[in-house]
Amino acid sequence: MEVMNDIGLDEVKVFELSEQLNELLSNYQIFYMNARGFHWNIKGRQFFELHVKFEELYNDLLLKVDELAERILTLGHTPLHSYSEYAKRATIAEAKNITSGDDAVSSILSSFSAIIEKQRAILADAGDADDEGTSALMSDYIREQEKLVWMYRAYLSQ
Ligand SMILES: [Fe+2]
Repeated sequence: MEVMNDIGLDEVKVFELSEQLNELLSNYQIFYMNARGFHWNIKGRQFFELHVKFEELYNDLLLKVDELAERILTLGHTPLHSYSEYAKRATIAEAKNITSGDDAVSSILSSFSAIIEKQRAILADAGDADDEGTSALMSDYIREQEKLVWMYRAYLSQ
């Protein structure tokens, strides 16, 4: 028999969704710190442009970190909240000592690719659980980030 949580969703499905959301959250935290590193360490002729662009990126990632953590709480579970767990659960690798704009943008593109793929998987499972709130969040992120991928890719093509 299905057991429903406070917002009328199947508890078993929601537990599995929360686990996936925690994996996504871990990836966002690593991506966030990578973006801060790019903002700090970037060198070269595109410094001013990229320094600002990477700040815009990490600010947006930080907003999403908070939204994801609060979504997990809304579903009745606990967001991971330690760096040791983020490092264990994330699939995005830490980027260290990157000073070239092109290397930073390539790293950003592969991080977006990893999180977009994960968000598509969560979107499918959220649909299966009738979890419209999580579905809507994933749809928004996917749409926004697909556009960013186009722009970062265009930058690399110059
Ligand atoms: Fe700064």
